[in-house]
Amino acid sequence: MPRVILGVCGGIAAYKSVELLRLLTQSGHDVHVVPTANALRFVGKPTFEALSGNPVGTSLWDGAGAVTHVAEGIGADLVVIAPTTADFLARVTHGIASDLLSNILLTATAPVVLAPAMHTQMWEHPATRTNVDVLRKRGYIVLDPDTGPLTGADIGRGRLPSPTQIADCVEAQFNANTGALLGKHVVISAGGTQEEWDPVRFIGNRSSGKQGVALARAALAAGAKVTLVAGHMDIDPPAGVETIHALSGEQMHKALVAVLDEQPDFVIMAAAVADFRPTTTSANKIKKALGTQNLELEQTTDILADLCGRRTPGVGPIMIGFAAETTANINELVSLAQGKLTSKGADLIIANNVNHGAIFGSEETEIHMVEDENFIGPIKGSKLDVAHAVVHRLSAMLKGVDFTAPSGT
Ligand code: CTP
Repeated sequence: MPRVILGVCGGIAAYKSVELLRLLTQSGHDVHVVPTANALRFVGKPTFEALSGNPVGTSLWDGAGAVTHVAEGIGADLVVIAPTTADFLARVTHGIASDLLSNILLTATAPVVLAPAMHTQMWEHPATRTNVDVLRKRGYIVLDPDTGPLTGADIGRGRLPSPTQIADCVEAQFNANTGALLGKHVVISAGGTQEEWDPVRFIGNRSSGKQGVALARAALAAGAKVTLVAGHMDIDPPAGVETIHALSGEQMHKALVAVLDEQPDFVIMAAAVADFRPTTTSANKIKKALGTQNLELEQTTDILADLCGRRTPGVGPIMIGFAAETTANINELVSLAQGKLTSKGADLIIANNVNHGAIFGSEETEIHMVEDENFIGPIKGSKLDVAHAVVHRLSAMLKGVDFTAPSGT
């Protein structure tokens, strides 16, 4: 039974958390309510205890021997905080651990859903905007408040979304993959590499790291241990993954070869690795006065092909690559991906069309999964939706299940 922490902050919308609690328990979740001290001014502890069937923790000093905040945070499959006040958003952004709920958030590695509710002016204040941006970048799901009547006579954006909407968002985090990769180790490379030319210049690419991070989140949600080998990324790695930074292709290659010793179950090469790097790197800045420069490039190691070649036949890891192609023609896309599958010796290739910079940096994507002569797709949606579909296929590969369309796409 998934264990959900329902945090409740001290805002007038706290009364709606009771309805949310009902919906979550009806869906079969084991809900542990953690109200802040101010939330208890709006709703009484017995209400939460009666409806959740669990004792309600309110203080860091209850059951200190059991180190409740650590146990609750680590043991949670999901944390949802509804309502989240402006004050709580600010505290979470800065890692301030001043009560039981904020301590739990610092130890939780599960998905976190925040449902803010406050007056329009507070929601629109630059401080709150910045806090929301930082938290979203950190991988938290921050719902936008609804527009409508607020506590007083005012009307505007700031209402808590309906308990049904929040419950739907929680359910979307639990999917067919829950527990599917329990005890498995997934290594994911993400982001773009940077190949140095001189101390200030490099050859880079448009990769944002978003797809790799989405895969990391989906694998974590499926119960896997995740190692992220990160090149340059526009977003932070999610909480709960081990991150190894590797900026150049060579560094990424070294890091991945080293991590193979840990005998992971899967390696997913989501990184955009440079195919070429400057033949020579200047120790000093190349001065403008030198005039026209000819930059000679040499080929880099194909990391995916090299890692596949290092495998003992029949022994893991299962190797997954991407194919970034510039064609919208599906037959051509699949055929190029099949070529990469064979030339690199991988088990699965995820193909996408990156024509005109599409996909890079965007929130949405569209992929085809290619294995042997078969392919499935298009699978469209947010990068996280697509990542869940990939993880679904990974767990099926472990069981030797035929290559059929993953559910929920
Ligand atoms: N890849 C790699 N090492 C490289 C280049 C690419 O491991 N030096 C991996 C990528 O991470 C991806 C897969 O190989 O998983 C395919 O990358 P892609 O850029 O689509 O193709 P390339 O192999 O670079 O071939 P081409 O540029 O001809 O399309």
